Amino acid sequence: MLEQAAALAGAFRALGPVDHIGIAVPSLAEALPFWQATLGLPLAEIEEVADQKVRTAILPTGEARVELLEPTAEDSPIAVYMAKRGPGIHHVALRVQGLEAKLAELKAAGVRLIDEVPRLGAGGNRIAFLHPKATGGVLLELCEPVGHPG
Ligand code: CO
Repeated sequence: MLEQAAALAGAFRALGPVDHIGIAVPSLAEALPFWQATLGLPLAEIEEVADQKVRTAILPTGEARVELLEPTAEDSPIAVYMAKRGPGIHHVALRVQGLEAKLAELKAAGVRLIDEVPRLGAGGNRIAFLHPKATGGVLLELCEPVGHPG
């Protein structure tokens, strides 16, 4: 595989720009007036991601997006997060093309992954999380936009 050869040569796949910032909120209804009306960001969509037990509101800003995350169940990862650390920044997502290859590369480098296989995120994007213990405490998402397979 070309990817493996590149990884062995130390030529790691480049990551793209910040795709979005995930922000945990207790309620979209209470959070949205600030982001929409006060800051003036457009609301692109609200979507329920059953897999992660969240409802997300996507608000584009420049090249990136704000992703508000409201838990839909008490055992939602977002509810668990807020119980420990309160509302606020939950994760940062970097764009990548060739998500599987990037994950294989990171795993080979000994990086602890939450998702060794991509899953479906908001907007139908393919996503995978790195473990915060591997990143100095940041929940880092790698995100491959639909229509841009690597
Ligand atoms: Co995200």
